[in-house]
Amino acid sequence: KQIYERGLQFHRPPLTFQTTHWQAQAEARLSANARGYLSGSAGTGETAAKNAAAFSRWSILPKRLVKTSGLPDLSTEVLGTKLPFPIAVAPVGVQKIFNPDGEVASAAAAAREGVPFIMSTASSVSIEDVARANGEDGVRWFQLYWPARRHDDITLSMLGRARKAGFSALFVTLDTYMLGWRPGDMDNGYNPFLRSDAIGVAIGFSDPVFRAQFREQHGVDVEDDEHHAAAEWTSTVFPGVSHGWEDLAFLQQHWDGPIVLKGIQTVEDARRCVECGVQGLVVSNHGGRQVDGGISSLGVLPRIVDAVGDQLDIFFDSGIRAGADIAKALALGARMCLVGRPYIYGLVLGGEDGVSHVLKSLLGDLELTLHLAGIESVGKEHLNRGVLEREDR
Ligand code: FNR
Repeated sequence: KQIYERGLQFHRPPLTFQTTHWQAQAEARLSANARGYLSGSAGTGETAAKNAAAFSRWSILPKRLVKTSGLPDLSTEVLGTKLPFPIAVAPVGVQKIFNPDGEVASAAAAAREGVPFIMSTASSVSIEDVARANGEDGVRWFQLYWPARRHDDITLSMLGRARKAGFSALFVTLDTYMLGWRPGDMDNGYNPFLRSDAIGVAIGFSDPVFRAQFREQHGVDVEDDEHHAAAEWTSTVFPGVSHGWEDLAFLQQHWDGPIVLKGIQTVEDARRCVECGVQGLVVSNHGGRQVDGGISSLGVLPRIVDAVGDQLDIFFDSGIRAGADIAKALALGARMCLVGRPYIYGLVLGGEDGVSHVLKSLLGDLELTLHLAGIESVGKEHLNRGVLEREDR
């Protein structure tokens, strides 16, 4: 309400409230390389397009004369923690290629808006610096790109540092043991992990175990041979081959807190998450950046919710661009949505304030959408499949 009223009166926002304009405005500011990396998808972009299109198959059925005493309650509970809003900031790597302040700006903005920050293993800022920016009150979760088992010592080092720095949950991304077939980046000859605009600030460089091993093997410090070190770090966190379900026990043994598996797209895998005893899963196809031709993430969400929704926390991402998108994913049974590219558009356009603005706008839009549709809260009793109708076009 506050944003809406100020928006209509005197408030000068750092960027437009028109969510559909953010992408083009941000892209216009970026180099071809960074633009390609941010907006690019796998293959022909079919799955990324399906992610977006899936939302318009569902329509909200607004109810009238629902006597309300205030605005809808947006609070939720995930991983045993009560949170004011049903969104989190998705893990996005190498943010310094989008804004020199990188993850420091987005982690600070997330804390300011009361939204959990999920830090990527591929961040351009160290675990400790992100924790400092996110502050004492910030809720932060660590996303793991899981090194091959021969690098368990590096995995343990990262987990230990994350725990010490106040990251309370571990999100393990399962769909990216290699980067996807991304023709745009290949045309540009661009891999941000190997480029000088991200090199030297990547998290691996601050990891003491990685640094020590590099020195031992090559006789020089990572700073003395940054390109080589970057290549080695990249092949450590993107090992090229996948772990198996049986390997999860290792992470469970060494992470004292909730574990959430990110990248689930089938009912069978969702059931295996339950069998393994993890606390949550993210229905995600990485924003269509990994397997092109894959199903839209929203398309598979209801089936996964029906199979395991009462047994662990279901997070959702891939395609969230507006308040109504969040409402629909929650109505279909997700407990929380992760916002990916949109907050990076905010980071490009306005740094910390830009990220804040994007989060605030999405939440304001969600709040008003629910309010005017007669939906009193994001709880299952109010926001469920009964408020949606499928409109196949
Ligand atoms: C990502 N994503 C991602 N995921 C992850 O687990 N670790 C990471 O480091 C990254 N890095 C990353 C970089 C960029 C530029 C993008 C666009 C995405 C995927 C991200 O967490 C999320 O799954 C998608 O962004 C969701 O799709 P939308 O919201 O971008 O459509």
